[in-house]
Amino acid sequence: MKTLIIFDSMYGNTEKIAKAVASGISGDIKVLKAGEAHLLDIINIGLLVIGLPTQGGRYTKPIAAFLNEISGQIKKGTIIAFFDTRMPSAWVKIFGFAAGKMADYFKKEGFQIVVPPEPFFVQGAQGPLQDGEPERAVAWGKDISLKIK
Ligand SMILES: Cc1cc2nc3c(=O)[nH]c(=O)nc-3n(C[C@H](O)[C@H](O)[C@H](O)COP(=O)(O)O)c2cc1C
Repeated sequence: MKTLIIFDSMYGNTEKIAKAVASGISGDIKVLKAGEAHLLDIINIGLLVIGLPTQGGRYTKPIAAFLNEISGQIKKGTIIAFFDTRMPSAWVKIFGFAAGKMADYFKKEGFQIVVPPEPFFVQGAQGPLQDGEPERAVAWGKDISLKIK
């Protein structure tokens, strides 16, 4: 199955998680930063994974621009999964979190979400990732692969 992982990342932590997730998913897979990805990249994909840093509980501008560009163009059978990176703090409880909002958006558009949005944690706003998060990301990628077989 053809997979596209699209991520945004200000300090590199979400990029590391995106690459780790990719290494857990088998098959034809492309990992692109939002801003580098365009409509052509979603042609014939069966799985779209979107990863983004939580910033004030919203999606970042490059991801919003990508979603806007592909709006109405993704095949309805496409499987979609989301993750975000965030701080282990009460902020999320106050503002909500990025991957959850994204999943709600796609659910409203009629897509099936096969795994719940997954958070990965950074130690501070600029990182680094908490210990064990890249390994957990590989396992999450493997889990998606198993669920869509
Ligand atoms: C402007 C800004 C707003 C942020 N808001 C939140 C937030 O609401 N909740 C949270 O958990 N982390 C927040 N953070 C921390 C980010 O989640 C953290 O920078 C991100 O996970 C790092 O990923 P990156 O290295 O891929 O950019 C914020 C960071 C920035 C720069």
